[in-house]
Amino acid sequence: MSSDMTLPPLAQIPADLVSLGDYARRAPAHMPKAVYEYIVGGGADEISLRRNREVLDRMLITPRVLVDVTRGGTQSQMLGETFRHPIMLAPVAFHKLVHPEGEIATARAASVLETPMVVSTLSSVELETIAQTLDSPRWFQLYFQQDRAFTLSLVRRAERAGYSCLMITVDAPLHGIRNRAQRAGFELPPGVEAVNLRQRPPLPSRVLEPSQSIVFQGMMTEAPNWEDIRWIQSQTQLPVVLKGVLSPVDALKAQQMGIAGLVISNHGGRTLDCVPSAIEVLPAIRQAVGREMTLLLDGAVERGTDVFKAIALGADAVMVGRPQLYALAVAGAAGVAHMLRILREELEVCMALAGTPTLADIGHEALYRPAQPLWGI
Ligand SMILES: Cc1cc2nc3c(=O)[nH]c(=O)nc-3n(C[C@H](O)[C@H](O)[C@H](O)COP(=O)(O)O)c2cc1C
Repeated sequence: MSSDMTLPPLAQIPADLVSLGDYARRAPAHMPKAVYEYIVGGGADEISLRRNREVLDRMLITPRVLVDVTRGGTQSQMLGETFRHPIMLAPVAFHKLVHPEGEIATARAASVLETPMVVSTLSSVELETIAQTLDSPRWFQLYFQQDRAFTLSLVRRAERAGYSCLMITVDAPLHGIRNRAQRAGFELPPGVEAVNLRQRPPLPSRVLEPSQSIVFQGMMTEAPNWEDIRWIQSQTQLPVVLKGVLSPVDALKAQQMGIAGLVISNHGGRTLDCVPSAIEVLPAIRQAVGREMTLLLDGAVERGTDVFKAIALGADAVMVGRPQLYALAVAGAAGVAHMLRILREELEVCMALAGTPTLADIGHEALYRPAQPLWGI
């Protein structure tokens, strides 16, 4: 990786930093170029990455006026836990890429803002150490490992450290085509590693026949399938949430297996390109699984109005991915706390101005549906 000059995290947050977009615009100055390209980029031609934002931008809100919202609030119940607001930190690998304290700084911010944090299997600080800092609800994101006994040992560690939910990521059994990161020559810098995987047994050496595929008979042979999910469910008391579902058929199947919740997500446009954005498929999935199942959504959530739109279409909460790394790079723990505060206040302002005092009041009718398309919109 190139050793280009980067600014350290700011000691004070400048007064003109007032939105998540402001953090995103400042972030490149605070990290090496290849790291930025790895974070900002998506899969292949980034069609899904762009679509995540475009679809949210096209959706509009119909506000109701003169509503008394003085008893309003953003609290909700999810999987037996009370949430102050429906905003969570998505699992994001390697926070030390952008800040020397890594996930510890993020966890401190999450604690102050009472924001649930989903800790990645690929965290750059041990999951136990993060748990010691994290006062808000803590969930663990599991990437299945080739060695199933080792996979189970990760689950046991998460249980012992007090994580209350297991979020299994199912849309990334292998990396998507990450052309942008490839072009930038991204690789993990010294001092940043997947510390939770240090004890991982070495991969068995596999020799492929010339007629065999490096994908099907190589990388995918150890990828999890529905049976593996069933097996994990049988091994833990923790509620299991599947992350990366876009099909109502998969959603129903998961529900029938007793999966507690789903994250509707295209992984921030980073795995398979040319898939729809989560917000597009959310209504059909909510309809398929009914009102009870917990549904989270992520992808390009960077405004309170984005959170509102997701709730209106049936999400229980949203997760933010890249914004946490941008804020962490620009201003450390204070930056992440500020970023979360902005998003939360924007949601409250949006709810107040739209005349929806509680999350339960935000329904389909809060979104604008023109009787006829106007001006080609
Ligand atoms: C740099 C980076 C690392 C990520 N690492 C993980 C990970 O370790 N596990 C996972 O399930 N998702 C991972 N994701 C996906 C996020 O959890 C989330 O789905 C996505 O970032 C949401 O989109 P957004 O970045 O537009 O908010 C990662 C995303 C980014 C940008």
